[in-house]
Amino acid sequence: MPEVRFNDRVAIVTGAGAGLGKSYALEFARRGAKVVVNDLGSAVDGSGSSHNAADLVVEEIKSAGGKAVANYDSVSSVQGGESIVKTALDAFGSADILVNNAGIVRDHSLQKLTEDEWDIVMAVHLKGAYNLTKPALAAMKEKNYGRVIFTSSGVGLYGNFGQANYAAAKMGLVGFMNTLVIENLKYNIKLNAIAPNAASRMTEKVLPPPLFEKLKPEHIAPMVMWLASEQNQETGMIFNCMGGWYSRTAVMCAKGIIIGDGTMTVTPEDIQAKWDTIKSLDGARPLSSIGESFGFVAPLLQK
Ligand code: NAI
Repeated sequence: MPEVRFNDRVAIVTGAGAGLGKSYALEFARRGAKVVVNDLGSAVDGSGSSHNAADLVVEEIKSAGGKAVANYDSVSSVQGGESIVKTALDAFGSADILVNNAGIVRDHSLQKLTEDEWDIVMAVHLKGAYNLTKPALAAMKEKNYGRVIFTSSGVGLYGNFGQANYAAAKMGLVGFMNTLVIENLKYNIKLNAIAPNAASRMTEKVLPPPLFEKLKPEHIAPMVMWLASEQNQETGMIFNCMGGWYSRTAVMCAKGIIIGDGTMTVTPEDIQAKWDTIKSLDGARPLSSIGESFGFVAPLLQK
């Protein structure tokens, strides 16, 4: 296999001062990329800020002979997103790779979840991706080249107690990506998502110790490097990654059944009668757009 290299590529990694983002930034630099190490330097709940986190990663990259620049803006504002992308353009003249990674948690079950906790989690994860991806894609389109990675989560894809705000934001990213994939098909721009699980300060209180020991950020970085590479031609996919396990996951549509001919009234009893077929995932597959879903009622148009 040819080596995955990022010579002459510029990678922006948000939240790269710690955890998963730090391991991506170090690996991008080792493989020849010039890296924008963005980090607000906040606590895991998004409070506070410090330049230390980003500065230390930049120092580590530079002392190993790599190229990196720090940025301390929050991803949660439009101005922050623009400034992060501008940092890449000003320092290195390009923005070829964007890893939307910055994240926080404010966990509570719904009745205890405050509006502020909902809003700040949305602002960092979902709006943060909007704030970064919009200016980054503008730069990528000009060069007809780009790779974008979104950080979703099994919490959003499959659910988890006490994380409704985080789950909604992480699943929202999938919808955001799906549409951007369609809007960028004519460019050499590939957008994919990961759903990682790894030891970090975010998971130190939730992962049982034996798993915390085993699941390293360095298990996630190879998937991010691959999706960010020029060789990667996939777009619009979501990959679970943890501890060396890599698996595609997807929103799928099953074949289902057409009841009636489009003119008759369908009753709840008809639904009940066909329930096993309707809920079956037999033959389920991902769709490339909502347009493809209209194909399922094509037989009605022929009548
Ligand atoms: P972490 O807490 O170790 O690192 C997150 C970094 O993001 C921190 O350095 C923090 O300062 C930075 N950050 C927070 N808010 C920011 C903002 N507004 N602007 C810029 N930087 C900001 O967390 P970890 O585990 O490395 O998480 C990275 C991403 O992976 C997050 O999006 C998280 O939701 C996601 N994730 C992590 C999982 C895990 O198992 N660690 C599981 C599923 C998803």
